[in-house]
Amino acid sequence: MNVKIVGTGSAVPKLRVTNDDLSRLMDTSDEWIKTRTGIENRHLAVEETTTGMAVEAAEKALRQAGITAEELGLIVAGTATPDRFLPNLSCEVQSALGAKNAVAFDLSAACSGFLFSLNTADVYLKSGFCKYALVIGAETLSKIMDWSDRSTCVLFGDGAGAAVLCAKEADAAAQPEGILGTVLGSDGARGMVLRCDNRPVNNPYVKNDTALSYVSMNGQEVYKFAVKTVPRVIEEAVKKAGLAVDEIDLFVLHQANYRIIEAVAKRLHQPMEKFPTNLQEYGNISAASVPILLDNVNNHGMIKKGSKIVLAGFGAGLTWGAAVLRW
Ligand code: UT7
Repeated sequence: MNVKIVGTGSAVPKLRVTNDDLSRLMDTSDEWIKTRTGIENRHLAVEETTTGMAVEAAEKALRQAGITAEELGLIVAGTATPDRFLPNLSCEVQSALGAKNAVAFDLSAACSGFLFSLNTADVYLKSGFCKYALVIGAETLSKIMDWSDRSTCVLFGDGAGAAVLCAKEADAAAQPEGILGTVLGSDGARGMVLRCDNRPVNNPYVKNDTALSYVSMNGQEVYKFAVKTVPRVIEEAVKKAGLAVDEIDLFVLHQANYRIIEAVAKRLHQPMEKFPTNLQEYGNISAASVPILLDNVNNHGMIKKGSKIVLAGFGAGLTWGAAVLRW
């Protein structure tokens, strides 16, 4: 069975906030943010919601795939910032789309959320569960940022990306297509380097006056983890796909920091031209970064039939993952 991406879509909020805008609100500068991360702008939700952006991205992906919402058998959304605890984001998307035949659930794996969701859908589709699946990465990170902590709040943005997957019997005479190999990993023992606690328990038996928690990060630890882990997981996934790293046309990486992407390219001995970026415009959007960038390169004609593409994510958990696709 081949499982292929047959449509992509994305959506970001209207409000575009520059580094200079932030430097008027806090002790930071365009120079610091740009040289340390490559980020120049980010889009922040004002009226937009995680659900609204996910629905917009999903509608575009369905349109490109040329299928109706009713043909979807599965919706998996990677998110750490849904609008509600209940119902889940995927069920809200299902309702908005009218995807009444889909099973819909969310998956929490932070910045690896799209990769973990993609792999879940791939396994479901390869098992014969259904023909079409919708995979989403959607975040409104601005609501869990500590806006008094300049070391984190300048890095992140809001948005959503989506992909429609289709399962098709493989042609034995042709090369395999679609998702060829995936490698995922987790290391909970190191998880506290990037955290955001849930709301404190308050009930008739527990009185808690702890303030709401926001994202905190040991940036240098996450940086070291990323530059060491991402090249290794990409190499493993490429090998699993039966390819060599030199054969890969595009590396669509999680958009956390341009310096991390450069370090990965160097370790893999690949030119930066193979590593498209959009963090200059959107910053880090956790689970949404990879599917938004995939949609950007798809719409810019950078992917052709047969292109070999690596998708890779990493972040809180700690979690990481890479998938290799032949388009
Ligand atoms: O998607 C999740 C994955 N997350 C990541 O991949 C993040 C990985 N980490 C990083 O990208 C980098 O570690 C950061 C961009 C977060 C930070 O860069 P850094 O080079 O590690 O800087 P630092 O944390 O060592 O801070 C250096 C200095 C400090 O000042 P002192 O102590 O040297 O005087 C900070 O207080 O920069 C200061 N600083 C800032 N200055 C201006 C921290 N944030 C800012 C800021 N503006 N926004």
